[in-house]
Amino acid sequence: MKKEVRRAVIAGNWKMNKTPSEAAALINEMKPLVADADCDVVLCVPFVDIPAAVEAAKGSNIKIGAENIHFKESGAYTGEISAAMLKEIGVEYVVIGHSERRQYFAETDQTVNLRTLAAVNAGFKAIVCVGETLEQRELGYTETLLKYQTKMALTNVTADQLKNIIIAYEPVWAIGTGVTATADQADEGNGFCRAAIAEVYGNDVAETVTVQYGGSMNAKNADELVSKVNVDGGLIGGASLKAEDFSIIVKATSK
Ligand code: PGA
Repeated sequence: MKKEVRRAVIAGNWKMNKTPSEAAALINEMKPLVADADCDVVLCVPFVDIPAAVEAAKGSNIKIGAENIHFKESGAYTGEISAAMLKEIGVEYVVIGHSERRQYFAETDQTVNLRTLAAVNAGFKAIVCVGETLEQRELGYTETLLKYQTKMALTNVTADQLKNIIIAYEPVWAIGTGVTATADQADEGNGFCRAAIAEVYGNDVAETVTVQYGGSMNAKNADELVSKVNVDGGLIGGASLKAEDFSIIVKATSK
C-alpha cells in the first residue's frame, strides 16, 4: 500500500496562545480559506478556548482538538482535564506527549501511553508526538529513540484502535526554532515511526497509519515536506496562528 491510502491531516497546535475571543476570530478568518481542503483540518487549542472554537468551527470542515488529556476518569488530579469533560464540549482530537509536555511537565513514555489509551478508549483521535533531541540525533540514536517512543506510546493499543492514532514526528531541535528538518530527514524520521509500527502490528497495518511531521513547518516549506512518501501532513505550531499561512499549508497538502 502507498501514501494514497492514508488520510493526510494538518493539525494546528496553538500551545498557550489565544484567548477564547481571539480563538473565535482566528477560526472565522480561517474557515473560508480551508473550506476546499482535501485533507483533514484540525485545530488543537487551549482548554478554555474549546467551547468558543467548537462554536466558531460549526458547519465547517475544521475539527477541534485539545492539547492534552488525563488518563484517569476523574478524581484528585488538580489542574487536569478528563476524557468525559472533553467529550462533552465537542472535542474530537487530542495531542499527547508533545515534547514541551515531556520537557517542562515531567511527561514520560509511560504517561504518554496511559493518555493514549485513555484517548482511544474514549473515542478520540490521538495525535501522539515523538521526537529526538539534537544531542540524541548527534549521538546517532534517532532511529532507536523514535522506535522506542513509538512502541512505548502504543503499548496495549489494539490494531483496531490504531485507526484512531496519528503519530507526529517532531524533532525537538526543530520545534519553534525556525530550523526545519530537511524533507529527507522528515521522511526518514516518519519512516522510522512507521517501521516501529510495522514491527508490532505488521506492514499492512503500518501502511495505513497517518504519520505527520512537525517542527517549523510553514507556508514556504510545507509543499516539499508533504510531498514525501512518509509524510502524511503536519502538526503546525507557529504557522497555525496565522490564517493565511495555515491555509497555504492545508492547500499544499490537498494537492
Ligand atoms: P512549530 O511547533 O511549528 O512552531 O515549530 C510545532 C509543534 O510544536 O507542534
